[in-house]
Amino acid sequence: MARFRVSWRSLFNLFPPGDPSGVALAAFSLGVTFLCTFNPCLAQRRPAAVEPPSASWKKHPQPASAGYVGSERCRSCHKAEFIEFGKTAHARLRDNANRPVMDCETCHGPGKVHSDAEEAAHGNDAKIAAAATLIFGFHGSPKENAEHCLTCHVTDRTQTSFAHSQHLAVGVSCDSCHSPHLVEAVDNPDQVHTQFAQAKFFSVPQIAEEHRWLAESQLRETQPALCYHCHATVQAQFALPFHHRVPEGLMKCTDCHNPHGTLLNLASLREPNWETCVKCHAEKRGPFVFEHPPVRVLGCVECHNPHGAVARFMLVRRETRFLCLQCHGDPHSAQASVPHSRGGFQTRGDCTRCHVAIHGSNFNVDFLQ
Ligand code: HEC
Ligand code: HEC
Ligand code: HEC
Ligand code: HEC
Ligand code: HEC
Ligand code: HEC
Ligand code: HEC
Ligand code: HEC
Ligand code: HEC
Ligand code: HEC
Repeated sequence: MARFRVSWRSLFNLFPPGDPSGVALAAFSLGVTFLCTFNPCLAQRRPAAVEPPSASWKKHPQPASAGYVGSERCRSCHKAEFIEFGKTAHARLRDNANRPVMDCETCHGPGKVHSDAEEAAHGNDAKIAAAATLIFGFHGSPKENAEHCLTCHVTDRTQTSFAHSQHLAVGVSCDSCHSPHLVEAVDNPDQVHTQFAQAKFFSVPQIAEEHRWLAESQLRETQPALCYHCHATVQAQFALPFHHRVPEGLMKCTDCHNPHGTLLNLASLREPNWETCVKCHAEKRGPFVFEHPPVRVLGCVECHNPHGAVARFMLVRRETRFLCLQCHGDPHSAQASVPHSRGGFQTRGDCTRCHVAIHGSNFNVDFLQ
């Protein structure tokens, strides 16, 4: 990738001010066309791709003596689950001898008693229902459900903190968000995932539900719809006029949050404090010769609501100057009070008219440039 990196300076060198010939320009645009066409890393990029999971696993013995019967037995009655599971990353796991590692009973536990009872039920509804309780069907407590996945995923980079996560604490478990075999996708192959009006406006491509499910970590539903089911307040915030383009489908909740929890902060942000933001807004990172302390000390959310706001730039106050006066309003404070009279002409309109480099400056102690 480094090979293709073009600095802006070198681009400008291509057009010395006195070069009237179109040759350099033509060569340049040809080059750009070539790069854009053949180099995917210069195409419009989504923020950093999800790293592959790092779950560690080994094949657990499933002896017949312990009541294991193997997936073929399940297939006869649960064809849809069998087919869908067969398409997932789980089904592709292999041991050193290239044998499949995972089958139905890895998650559901031994199935002999259940299978036998279902066969013996002969269509009797009561008996069928009774037999269904003889296998683990993820109707346990959230913790119990999660444990069936955490046998392997506990070593995973992004799920290590799940046991301490707010989600698990409030009863949201792996199976609330993931479905290891999304059977509805087979029932209705043409179904497309939910989209919001904004996404339609931006023509975010729609893909068939099954492909989406396989491409998006086996999620039951795509983001943000999945999260909106439970987070209606957040949905309302993203409907405000200024917001990150999550409902449009151009950004995801998980660009900022780790739904599996982190030990870093209360809101399960991917990175501590402002690191989450400066990952994308790199120019705000600094360090600056003259720092504006709240940016670094309190973080971006002191002034911005990243989910959305009625004020431009997602500011927490509708008029910027009231935001500034929150801290700079006290005329008796020796430190950060406004030197210009509050009623004076300077304070009409926004303070950022003059204090333009509000996130920090390398040139001016008062952020005037
Ligand atoms: C003879 C047919 C038959 C066989 C074989 C069979 N099942 Fe079932 N299973 C059923 C029926 C019928 C139900 C109840 C109706 C339903 O929910 O689909 C059921 C329900 C389930 C449930 C849901 C339980 C719950 O708590 O709701 C799970 C999980 C399950 N089976 C897994 C398996 C696995 C794994 C195997 C293979 C080891 C298997 N079944 C073999 C017929 C069978
Ligand atoms: C990675 C773990 C995992 C594997 C492997 C797995 N399942 Fe499941 N299964 C789940 C979870 C989680 C649920 C509950 C959530 C859901 O319905 O998607 C479930 C639910 C079910 C149900 C009940 C569905 C319902 O509508 O209530 C059946 C039946 C079932 N599984 C059968 C199978 C069969 C057959 C296989 C093998 C082909 C299999 N499962 C493999 C995790 C797994
Ligand atoms: C036997 C160990 C094991 C168990 C149990 C297990 N997983 Fe996995 N899972 C893995 C491994 C290993 C991978 C990595 C696959 C890969 O990289 O291709 C994986 C991958 C995944 C992925 C990513 C799939 C993708 O398409 O990228 C999801 C989501 C997932 N597991 C969820 C679950 C859930 C939910 C459960 C419990 C219902 C569960 N797993 C149980 C071993 C396991
Ligand atoms: C609140 C919803 C939610 C819960 C609960 C949840 N996940 Fe996820 N999971 C997601 C979302 C959303 C993604 C996709 C992340 C992305 O695209 O950045 C994901 C991705 C994954 C992945 C694949 C890539 C990665 O980021 O590691 C694995 C594996 C996974 N989850 C396993 C689990 C397991 C195991 C559990 C339970 C211990 C669980 N998840 C619980 C929402 C959830
Ligand atoms: C089944 C319901 C449910 C789903 C689905 C769900 N959440 Fe939650 N989530 C909750 C509840 C309940 C809480 C705790 C109360 C609160 O803070 O609103 C919570 C808390 C949170 C928190 C704050 C606390 C913390 O430390 O994690 C974040 C961030 C969050 N969820 C993000 C997400 C994202 C992102 C998704 C979608 C991938 C999602 N949630 C899907 C129910 C859900
Ligand atoms: C641009 C980054 C970003 C995106 C995208 C984002 N969030 Fe947040 N979210 C944050 C930050 C930062 C906080 C912490 C706010 C604070 O500390 O006041 C937060 C807080 C939360 C909380 C806790 C709220 C509370 O009041 O404690 C929940 C729940 C939540 N987000 C859910 C979501 C959901 C659901 C989505 C997707 C629809 C989403 N977020 C998208 C940055 C983001
Ligand atoms: C995944 C990348 C990403 C992350 C992480 C991110 N942003 Fe953004 N942000 C963007 C993009 C892209 C835009 C432009 C959105 C648009 O034009 O609709 C934007 C716009 C903004 C704007 C408004 C700019 C304007 O012109 O209206 C503010 C303020 C902002 N982000 C603050 C934050 C804060 C605070 C955080 C951390 C909680 C954050 N961002 C995290 C990508 C990101
Ligand atoms: C002290 C309050 C304050 C803090 C803290 C703050 N901002 Fe801002 N930010 C503002 C104001 C005020 C504006 C509007 C500037 C204007 O009116 O031109 C703004 C504008 C922006 C913009 C859009 C215009 C631009 O300059 O690109 C982005 C993006 C942004 N902020 C991101 C961030 C990020 C990321 C952080 C955390 C590292 C952060 N802000 C911290 C006050 C703040
Ligand atoms: C959360 C509180 C807070 C907010 C909001 C805030 N500031 Fe500050 N600001 C400070 C602190 C603390 C200092 C450092 C004061 C010092 O070192 O004397 C500072 C320093 C400054 C300075 C440089 C003072 C010097 O030392 O020369 C200027 C100029 C300034 N702020 C302008 C603004 C403007 C304009 C806004 C509104 C966009 C704003 N601030 C919003 C807390 C805040
Ligand atoms: C018309 C331009 C202009 C506007 C509007 C303006 N300022 Fe200033 N500000 C300046 C200049 C110039 C300085 C540096 C000269 C000085 O120290 O008097 C300054 C200095 C400051 C300082 C540093 C004081 C110190 O002790 O060094 C603070 C704090 C400040 N302004 C806050 C604000 C706030 C808050 C607002 C909005 C309510 C605002 N300014 C609006 C031009 C402006």
